[in-house]
Amino acid sequence: MSNGVLSFCYLLSCVLFIFSIRGLASPETARRGNVLGMLGMAIAIAATLFSPAVSEYIWVIVAILIGGGIGTYFALKVKMTSLPQMIAAFNGMGGLSAVLISLAEIISGSELLIENALGLIIGAVAFSGSMIAFAKLQGLISPKAITFKGLQLINLILAVLVIAACVYFVIRSDINVFYFLAAASIVLGITIVLPIGGADMPVVISILNAYSGWAAVGIGFSLNNVLLIIVGAIVGASGAILSYIMVKAMNRSLLSVMLGGFGNEKNAAASAQGENKIAKTGDTQDAAFIMENANKVIIVPGYGMAVAQAQHILKTMGDDLHKKYGVEVMYAVHPVAGRMPGHMNVLLAEANVPYEDVFELEAINREFATADVAYVIGANDVTNPLARTDPNSPIYGMPVLDVAKAKTVFFVKRSLNSGYSGVENPLFFADNTFMLYGDAKKVTEEIVSVLEK
Ligand code: TAP
Repeated sequence: MSNGVLSFCYLLSCVLFIFSIRGLASPETARRGNVLGMLGMAIAIAATLFSPAVSEYIWVIVAILIGGGIGTYFALKVKMTSLPQMIAAFNGMGGLSAVLISLAEIISGSELLIENALGLIIGAVAFSGSMIAFAKLQGLISPKAITFKGLQLINLILAVLVIAACVYFVIRSDINVFYFLAAASIVLGITIVLPIGGADMPVVISILNAYSGWAAVGIGFSLNNVLLIIVGAIVGASGAILSYIMVKAMNRSLLSVMLGGFGNEKNAAASAQGENKIAKTGDTQDAAFIMENANKVIIVPGYGMAVAQAQHILKTMGDDLHKKYGVEVMYAVHPVAGRMPGHMNVLLAEANVPYEDVFELEAINREFATADVAYVIGANDVTNPLARTDPNSPIYGMPVLDVAKAKTVFFVKRSLNSGYSGVENPLFFADNTFMLYGDAKKVTEEIVSVLEK
């Protein structure tokens, strides 16, 4: 394949990737976005395979078979609720590729020292950080903040060491320093992510995603591959924008996340309230009766709805209330409800909930005061008022849904257990709250059977 045709194919891939990202911005166009992205990647791989840069096929084919096989297996097998850890793991693989490519380049005598060093550092931090994020999300290690006195100082020293070693390597081109750089960056990735816990993992995953994009840019320069540079920049920039949107939604500072350790959980237990208090238990008959006689019901889905896969029966409940009893039904989606950006939007879209019935935090918070019922299904942290009132709480500062302003609040969950952040929710003990204990799908099915009698 001539260089002209190769450049054209790469350009076409880039355009497709840009339209793909655009499509992914809304659930209505997300499917098309995915298809465009796949097409762009297929063209990019095919063009690279036939480019003059590839002279040996056997290893490329072996790598594609192994990587493609593992990817296909996990894509088919993974549960919706485990997607975040899969994304974290795949992200880490991107970082590891950057590390291995820059090592191979330097060992084989590349003179692009800055590009390789940057690809190595960012890739190594993305790799080890993503592995820790994966282990936390998968429950292999505690998802809470793992920290100790002096960790921030260690992070600072490590960061200074990495910068100094990078400068020394670029000046002296000493391969031993390159190995040291790889090791120090891997340790830095671990020590940055370990102390982050509570409700802050989504931001971390998004930042690590951006890091792996920037690592690809470094590698693109060292391999002189324009497509890698452009696509890496798209991933890096869109990851950075997503991180910004998320830190804003969580009321955090981007700098504190990147320096590590703001999800400090040492006060989580102290902020727990409700000891010796009693949470009132409701039953599904009464809940159905109250909702069918309501004017306005706001449904607040959370992670538990995803676990129970209750979105379809929830849509049936909303339809019954609206069509049979004339109730106004709205769905409230918090930006970090669930375990990945847009998690609730995807599930509600899958159940064919109309987009115009789904409201974001700011718009819906105005509505709770005039709602008769807030039906909180498998959500917890995103409603916790301690985020406003307790400066010691790890979720302090995160905007929350004002469910308590509704006349009656139903919490559908299996117990009084806390959510992802480990902070107890005082709303369970509020006067207007009734707990509907049980699996989200089962409880909602029972309510629907009463509504449809
Ligand atoms: P959480 O606060 O995690 O609460 C979910 C609740 O669902 C739990 O308290 C659990 O209580 C209940 N639950 C679990 N399985 C259930 C089932 N089968 N049926 C009924 N209830 C069930 O969820 P949230 O309110 O959606 O908040 C999300 C949290 O995750 C935030 O802290 C957020 O920062 C964090 N996070 C978000 C993301 C993104 S990007 N969205 C990524 C990582 C972490 P029981 O055990 O009592 O049933």
